[in-house]
Amino acid sequence: MAHIIVVGNEKGGAGKSTVSMHVATALARLGHKVNTLDLDLRQRTLGRYFENRRAFLKSAELDLPSPANHNLPEIDAATLKPGENVYDHRLSAAVSRLEPDSDFILIDCPGSHTRLSQVAHSLADTLVTPLNDSFIDFDLLARIDSHGEKLLGPSVYSEMVWNARQLRAQAGLKPIDWVVVRNRVGTQRMVNKEKMERAITMLAERIGFRVAPGFSERVIFRELFPRGLTLLDLKDVGVKQLNISNIAARQELRDMMKAMNLPGVEVEF
Ligand SMILES: Nc1ncnc2c1ncn2[C@@H]1O[C@H](COP(=O)(O)OP(=O)(O)OP(=O)(O)O)[C@@H](O)[C@H]1O
Ligand SMILES: [Mg+2]
Repeated sequence: MAHIIVVGNEKGGAGKSTVSMHVATALARLGHKVNTLDLDLRQRTLGRYFENRRAFLKSAELDLPSPANHNLPEIDAATLKPGENVYDHRLSAAVSRLEPDSDFILIDCPGSHTRLSQVAHSLADTLVTPLNDSFIDFDLLARIDSHGEKLLGPSVYSEMVWNARQLRAQAGLKPIDWVVVRNRVGTQRMVNKEKMERAITMLAERIGFRVAPGFSERVIFRELFPRGLTLLDLKDVGVKQLNISNIAARQELRDMMKAMNLPGVEVEF
């Protein structure tokens, strides 16, 4: 059985596609069979990332391990059962086609609440939620008092994950391992950073997720897209000496993947 990783957060710009690209490529580089689906049918950031990778590797005459990205299949409306949602059908058709030939299927969700994203969350064995270090982004997980210290209750996105967990429990599937990774964290000590840390730790216990270390705010994460590369590919494309920031970023990816604790994965890079 393929292990399904869903990268989701209905807040836009949290780092889902950046994390998706790095995790999927790292798994492929570690020798696993990885297929990906981009559920942002309009922006297609992850799909575009892979198109850039293919074009760049071709022009550089390089063959690097790469996940395979797929589009959702088109479905003839006549084949739908009465009342069946066309998106549900397209997603489950895609997953069942990929499952026999995948160790991992990674699904990148859009930064909004859509039917596709909701259904994808109920398929997740591991749910990865990148979260910007900002209380505006935190507000989609939980409400907090004006001092940023006391939790007042869950919010829309956590409620959606809770529903996905209920659906899985009813279907007798194993529970979702929900991992929240902080993204674009500042490298300096800051009051907001520490407040966020406390709030997330508190919330993790309350609504049942694990917190994993994520990526710091680094220019390199924005520069790799046009060539479709990840931090792990740099040496193979001729970068002789990684600078200190890139080495630190690589280490962040390693720590994040270790904390994800994916089945059968030895994180060695
Ligand atoms: N660690 C980081 N350091 C610097 N920039 C980052 C980092 N992570 C993401 N970014 C930048 O932040 C922006 C949002 O990232 P990304 O597209 O991965 O988020 P997303 O959650 O997939 O967005 P959307 O909700 O629109 O799908 C992009 O411009 C990306 O290059
Ligand atoms: Mg995205």
